[in-house]
Amino acid sequence: MEVVILNSTDAVADRCASIISDLVHRRPNCVLGLATGDTPRATYRRLVELSNRDVLDMREVNAVALDEYVGLASDDPRSYRAYLKRELADPLGLDSRAVHVPDVGSDDLQRSCAEFEALLERLGGVDLQLLGIGTDGHIGFNEPGSSLASRTRIKTLHPRTVADNARFFPGGSDVPRHVVTQGVATILSARHVVLIATGDNKAAAVAAAIEGPVSAILPASALQLHPHATAILDEPAASHLRLADYYRGVQEHKPPWQGH
Ligand code: PGA
Repeated sequence: MEVVILNSTDAVADRCASIISDLVHRRPNCVLGLATGDTPRATYRRLVELSNRDVLDMREVNAVALDEYVGLASDDPRSYRAYLKRELADPLGLDSRAVHVPDVGSDDLQRSCAEFEALLERLGGVDLQLLGIGTDGHIGFNEPGSSLASRTRIKTLHPRTVADNARFFPGGSDVPRHVVTQGVATILSARHVVLIATGDNKAAAVAAAIEGPVSAILPASALQLHPHATAILDEPAASHLRLADYYRGVQEHKPPWQGH
């Protein structure tokens, strides 16, 4: 895995936005896999800034979500569909039909999962999948114990994730327990995966994902199996990495012919 350690959360967002905007410049109709949660917000703000300055046009992009809560009303502002519309699609002028989220309103969720997989295939696969990481090592909502061969399916959230997400549900009682999420193998099918993590509460999960054994107990460790995975970290998130100095050296002495 390529590991990039930067000295601020702003620098993480800048680097991530620049990787995405380079891709969109090369391939305006690319398929972007989007993460939700707090970590990617700053990256999305950078993309919106670039678009407002007319140096980036994302209107031909197809966007796909990683996951969605089950059980929220279709107009609930805490849904990931609403998040993606608010943070990214509306400010960037994306057509709502080009933002694809699993259909969690359906009576047949298994069918929704299969349809989402079929959609990814129809789109020709994901060019770049952006990922955050849970404090329990999840990617998407692939909680500890997820099969590394999993595809899009229904999952029950780990109590730690429910606790982590309670901040988005003041009062705490109605945090959804169920989700539809891309599987680990679905995520690994993307042509490039970019994991971003900031803050020392992510340090243990990040170190286990990058340097620990590949194991279902920490689904993010499956990224070690991906031929083109990039982790972009701030110093606190990188603070448990045993090889941090080596990764910094690799970036410093990056051969000039090597891009993102
Ligand atoms: P966060 O969530 O960005 O809100 O910390 C990351 C995740 O759970 O994948």
